[in-house]
Amino acid sequence: MSSIHRLCRFEQLEDPGSRGFSVELEGDTQEILVVRKGERVYGYLNRCPHTGINLEWQPDQFLDLSQSYIQCVTHGALFRVEDGLCLRGPCAGDALSPIQVELRDGEIVAILDTLSGA
Ligand code: FES
Repeated sequence: MSSIHRLCRFEQLEDPGSRGFSVELEGDTQEILVVRKGERVYGYLNRCPHTGINLEWQPDQFLDLSQSYIQCVTHGALFRVEDGLCLRGPCAGDALSPIQVELRDGEIVAILDTLSGA
């Protein structure tokens, strides 16, 4: 089963741009991030595959200076926006955990798997 979480309006994300969210799922808080690139939005768990900590230092700042890659600020790993693959850094070859995000009536929603259904 899955549960649907409204995150924000699409136009609230710059292009390119990113935002972080905390969503409640079955009594746990899941930290997630979304990135807009053009007319598409990508979503991942906010967890670096290197050590498992959050990626950002400043709220909603997940992109590198070039605004081309998702960056982990702790050791500088760079992840491809489109699939979360780490291209450079201590976890090169690993990837961020994707989450399903969709646009619904101009709103970005996250669809998260649940164990029990919601
Ligand atoms: S914790 Fe993310 S690159 Fe080391």
